Amino acid sequence: MSIAHYFETMDYGPAPEADGEARAWLKRHDATFGHFIAGKFVAPASGKHLATIEPATGKTLAKIAQGIAADVEAAVGAARSAQSSWAKLGGHGRARHLYALARMLQRHARLFSVLEAIDNGKPIRETRDLDVPLAARHFLYHAGWAQLQDREFADHVPVGVIGQIIPWNFPLLMLAWKIAPALATGNTVVLKPAEFTSLTALLFAELAAEAGLPPGVLNVVTGDGATGALLVENPGVDKIAFTGSTEVGRLIRQSTAGSGKSLTLELGGKSPFIVFDDADIDGAVEGVVDAIWFNQGQVCCAGSRLLLQEGIAETFRKRLIRRMETLRVGPPLDKAIDMGAVVAPVQLERIKALVETGVKEGAEKYQAPGPIPAEGCFYPPTLLWNVHPSSTVAIEEIFGPVLVAMTFRTPDEAVMLANNTRYGLAASVWSETIGLALDIAPKLQAGVVWVNATNLFDACVGFGGYRESGFGREGGREGLYEYLKPKAWSGRKARAKVPPPSPAASNDGAGFGTPSIDRTAKLFVGGKQVRPDGNYSRAVLSPKGKHLGEAGEGNRKDIRNAVAAARSAEGWARATTHNRAQILYYLAENLSARGDEFARRVGDMTGVSPAKARAEVEASIERLFSYGAWADKYEGTIHAPPLRGVALAMHEPIGVVGVACPDEAPLLGFISLVAPLIAMGNRVVAVPSERHPLAATDFYQVLETSDVPAGVVNIVTGERDALAKVLAEHDDVDALWVFGSQEASTAAERLSIGNLKRTLVDHGLALDWYDRVASEGPILLRHAVQVKNIWIPYGD
Ligand code: NAI
Repeated sequence: MSIAHYFETMDYGPAPEADGEARAWLKRHDATFGHFIAGKFVAPASGKHLATIEPATGKTLAKIAQGIAADVEAAVGAARSAQSSWAKLGGHGRARHLYALARMLQRHARLFSVLEAIDNGKPIRETRDLDVPLAARHFLYHAGWAQLQDREFADHVPVGVIGQIIPWNFPLLMLAWKIAPALATGNTVVLKPAEFTSLTALLFAELAAEAGLPPGVLNVVTGDGATGALLVENPGVDKIAFTGSTEVGRLIRQSTAGSGKSLTLELGGKSPFIVFDDADIDGAVEGVVDAIWFNQGQVCCAGSRLLLQEGIAETFRKRLIRRMETLRVGPPLDKAIDMGAVVAPVQLERIKALVETGVKEGAEKYQAPGPIPAEGCFYPPTLLWNVHPSSTVAIEEIFGPVLVAMTFRTPDEAVMLANNTRYGLAASVWSETIGLALDIAPKLQAGVVWVNATNLFDACVGFGGYRESGFGREGGREGLYEYLKPKAWSGRKARAKVPPPSPAASNDGAGFGTPSIDRTAKLFVGGKQVRPDGNYSRAVLSPKGKHLGEAGEGNRKDIRNAVAAARSAEGWARATTHNRAQILYYLAENLSARGDEFARRVGDMTGVSPAKARAEVEASIERLFSYGAWADKYEGTIHAPPLRGVALAMHEPIGVVGVACPDEAPLLGFISLVAPLIAMGNRVVAVPSERHPLAATDFYQVLETSDVPAGVVNIVTGERDALAKVLAEHDDVDALWVFGSQEASTAAERLSIGNLKRTLVDHGLALDWYDRVASEGPILLRHAVQVKNIWIPYGD
């Protein structure tokens, strides 16, 4: 082809990146890899390997080890032996190591970019300009946190040995997101990369060892899902951090239930890309290209649902199609292509099948007309137009270069359509009117919102989902807490099991005096005292068996009613923080006015001395004051990522939260759990102490007189563990806190998988409710909010 030809046609010529260095590295290893354990490659215990394929050609690229239990055990053992020395090395020592890892990535940037492009199929342009530099940035940023850890996180300790399982869409970048915060904070890691794309993790481990990372600090075990499952189940692992499909996320939640392992899940999405009629249309069209055709659409936060305001829909469609005509699909190592290959044949088939379903269900299909390589896993940029919100392709994560489009008329309708998904990972809002964009952003149920932008990421900004997109954050200060545990919660002992009192002889204490008026405490639902659905009650006895009264026996239907009442009290989430603070102070004031009566009640139920009972009431009043104080002070942060702009890390309420309260300190325990939740704008369905419920039921009279809106606090008494299970299974409950038995904690984690609710459970370990460090303030507030990061770039 002559220069004149290109001059006339303006066609791109081939611009391949050299792959010699990457191929030489593969050859040095005979293209066959073991696991990387305790600082060196070791042969797999099974002797078995899996082939890893080059998506652009379909040819075998290398063989990776298939990990079995013995390999996982060896890696976890190596991580365990290294952990205490790594933690003891101190923040500065670890900062130096993380800095060295960042520099190592920068030095070998070309090799990593090429290897990643060959192994995954993504364009070199993206690996070179995004994956590798951002991975280095994560190590550099977290080197800084290691340096500051003893000042900024002095009240926390590392979690221990972390099992990390990552997907194939950003193999090196996900490695960095996972291991940088874990290592920075003094944990050691066993990483299981995805079976399609393990090579850059193996290269990273090898070069990290060369850069001086001590043996055992980072171990890589390769293999398929079965290997991942073995890592999840290994008892030597203290925490699992997973990124991947929602389906596997559920399995992991189930298998870690009750184990005491902490868990973060970063799962799928079906993120909306909303364009209002006053948006910069050309800017938004470019945004769409980046939202759905970056990385072949294999991005968990891809803007895969285009929502267009009706007035601009047609203009937008035409300009988008014109832009699609210029997109080039081709070999990943060609520096001038826009889209490379999809990761594997199975993924290609899945995309094809879903697009077919979309068309059958009425969508109009448009595909970019450019040429596509005949061999390998390529799929063209695709637009499905006129998609119905209930169509399969509008609901399911396609995980490919397929955009589905629909229209809306009003901002309210846009919000409704945007939130009409079980996911909640990200959203993009396009409008030139700042008031409109900033009105919509907080209404979107998503962990990340980009204003007039899309797919912006940085190490200093937390990333993670709402709802079925998972829980936990990666990046920013918020992400560090996922790898730390509060010192104040270490060394807790299992709660002592106190046998229930037997009823005293029937006439014990009876006489011919005027009896008190018989009263059965009802349930408190939607601001009203209501009889339990089953019309049963249970006797409440003193430790000596004296009959103190009756409490309603709540059942499944009562919980359902309470959840519905809490759901409809949504206005509380929007109440000003000042307003919520005032109401908490008012609760304290009204509790104080009835202090003697509450002290008597606590004393009668628990048998503690009058002084101790009074102390519990005083501590409860003080706790309400504390949360009145926190209500307008537990604020978010402004992150400063490296762009002209800011990211607002906002603390948002989670929604409807179920709470099972402990038996010890029946008033203080109840208030210590309910108050932080309502201070942050959540609505609560609380199951009070099963044995001593009457302080909580007396408290509804305090609620009634303190301007707490109906439905914000609902109280259902009865068999606590059984009611907690109902809450765990209820898909309209967004989070669940269980303080009680180990069995109830296990059940809460296991049964919460329906809507992947956030759980905070105590595994039956007692907490000292009088210890303010252990049971008050940020230690609980952190679990009462979810962080939404709103990116607001300024201009260009
Ligand atoms: P996946 O969730 O099965 O794989 C992710 C990682 O989990 C891999 O390392 C895999 O080996 C491991 N894994 C699989 N089963 C496991 C188990 N039972 N226990 C522990 N680890 C296990 O995702 P897959 O099969 O690669 O892709 C399927 C679909 O998932 C995609 O089509 C896409 O829709 C979605 N996906 C979403 C991702 C995201 O970031 N949101 C990433 C990858 C896939």
